[in-house]
Amino acid sequence: MPLQRIKPTPPSDDKRWKLIDVTMRRNGYAGHALIETLHSVQDAFGYLDDPAMKFVASALNLPLSKVYGVATFYHLFTLKPKGKHTCVVCTGTACYIKGAGELVDGVSEKYNVPLGETTADRKLSLLGARCVGACGLAPAVVMDGVMLGKLKVDDLLEHIEKVI
Ligand code: FES
Repeated sequence: MPLQRIKPTPPSDDKRWKLIDVTMRRNGYAGHALIETLHSVQDAFGYLDDPAMKFVASALNLPLSKVYGVATFYHLFTLKPKGKHTCVVCTGTACYIKGAGELVDGVSEKYNVPLGETTADRKLSLLGARCVGACGLAPAVVMDGVMLGKLKVDDLLEHIEKVI
């Protein structure tokens, strides 16, 4: 009898992992899906962190060293940001139409940090993602792992102010 494949558990119950699973499933959980899968993780979360890379390695049945190797070799991939707090602004189509660009500009100006970077005091990383799976909440932002939706610039700045 063929061995049943045991699916690893995602690092959290964040529904964005469903988007990643769709990518892996479409490729039959084969190793050649690695780059596409890492892109999906980055598109959904804004960066790749250790738990994400470990999950992808076990889901695709690849050595962790291979996943780290690919993630660190390609400049397109962003590893976990260095800031104490992480603000991921979704810049996917639905969010873009609803003003994601203004959110990015607002945070960028106030904290003097370009998209994709961390403030000089390492308090805040500002990142973009292509769709965080909450288009109904556009424009959406994931602040320290918490999904915020239908935001205006002032709401977001106020929220960041409270958190950091
Ligand atoms: S485009 Fe932003 S959540 Fe889908």
